[in-house]
Amino acid sequence: LTAQVAENDHLVVGGCDVPQLLERYGSPLYVLDEDTLRAACQQYRDAMQQYYPGESLVIYASKAWNCLAVCAVVNQENLGIDVVSGGELLTAVKAGVPSDRLYFHGNNKSLDELQQGIESGCRIVVDNWFELKSLRQLAQAANKTVPILLRLTPGIECHTHEYIRTGHLDSKFGFDPDQIEEVFQFVAQQPQLSCLGLHAHIGSQIFELQPHADLAGVMVQWLKKAAEYGLPVSELDIGGGLGICYTEQDDPPSIETWVKTVAEAVAQACETQGVPLPKLIAEPGRSLIGTAAVTAYKVGSQKTVPGIRTYVAVDGGMSDNPRPITYQSVYRALAANQMSAPLTEKTTLAGKHCESGDVVIQEAYLPALAANDVIVVAGTGAYNYSMASNYNRVPRPAAVLVKAGEAHLIIQRETLQDLIRHDCLPASLTATAG
Ligand code: LLP
Repeated sequence: LTAQVAENDHLVVGGCDVPQLLERYGSPLYVLDEDTLRAACQQYRDAMQQYYPGESLVIYASKAWNCLAVCAVVNQENLGIDVVSGGELLTAVKAGVPSDRLYFHGNNKSLDELQQGIESGCRIVVDNWFELKSLRQLAQAANKTVPILLRLTPGIECHTHEYIRTGHLDSKFGFDPDQIEEVFQFVAQQPQLSCLGLHAHIGSQIFELQPHADLAGVMVQWLKKAAEYGLPVSELDIGGGLGICYTEQDDPPSIETWVKTVAEAVAQACETQGVPLPKLIAEPGRSLIGTAAVTAYKVGSQKTVPGIRTYVAVDGGMSDNPRPITYQSVYRALAANQMSAPLTEKTTLAGKHCESGDVVIQEAYLPALAANDVIVVAGTGAYNYSMASNYNRVPRPAAVLVKAGEAHLIIQRETLQDLIRHDCLPASLTATAG
């Protein structure tokens, strides 16, 4: 993050005074630092070019944060985009991402979504038999040849939260190794399906390197098999998953080290197995955008339970960041309007939602705080806005993109009217509702 402390003791991100941003755009606010996002895109691209001897492409797993502005920045950096729904696909297309850099994932795409994928011309990553057969029918009806990749379950374990592991055999994603040859045989007979490559993704927030190196070896074996069945496979999409630093204890490998490990493992496996180098695709989400954003809140009420703890409540919580309550994720906080104040208080930073589990940070070390002080929670670029909800009918926050002292609104704050926009009252109820 391009962060500094200004003379007024305020936190400055992307050249913008964060407490002043809150005055201008309201609270809470997601603040996305454009330079940090672009730097991560460049690190992935440069490392791929440096360490992989063949063609390569980095695609942004936009589930981490999908909106027009983010897709547009990533597109300008010449990355591709991974989408997993009609909504994400629409956004990427509207942001101008070319179809040959668009990959459509998901384990249960609807017929409408598959149709939308076909029309966009993107590559469709087929997850299972049901999708394969649906897609064949749609492609026949449209009289089009659809570029596809096949998602395989590689049977590789890694250490991360159970909810975000995907490579183990008992996973809802991808074709089981036992079925793969049958799938290859089937696809080889479908003129409307052009199987350009294979895909696997083993999980998220991973700090080990070995699972991805192992994955490379497994996937190259399957590429070889696919070619034996006559499939025109030339792409290997190795997924994402590199973890980021949320707290001082976290020590993930760098982007460069991760890419080097993956690239060398693929190149090595190709050499030993006599397989031509595929176009290597990596699809990181969290490690591209996670550390590029912070969430700024205002302090409200406080409660001290004598001898136990002090709760400091902010004006957001699990609706803008569901990760602590979902995955017990740990974050760091700063007092953004008094950056040099001594961190004398051990505080439980609570949200405003109606359940006890709505705690942003269990143990935050902060100065003594008063109402309207500004708290910034760091590392909220990934899976925060994208997983935000209207729980308790709380409007979703706005987001700004900051760079060189300028801020641009990229997501408008929801209004109370927005919240009831889709509500309908049956006629039988309108009388009593007045
Ligand atoms: N590719 C596929 C097929 C994926 O399923 C994912 C993430 C990625 C790439 C990107 O993974 P990343 O580089 O971000 O680790 N909501 C959870 C994370 C869920 C990840 C789902 N898939 C969280 O907040 O931790």
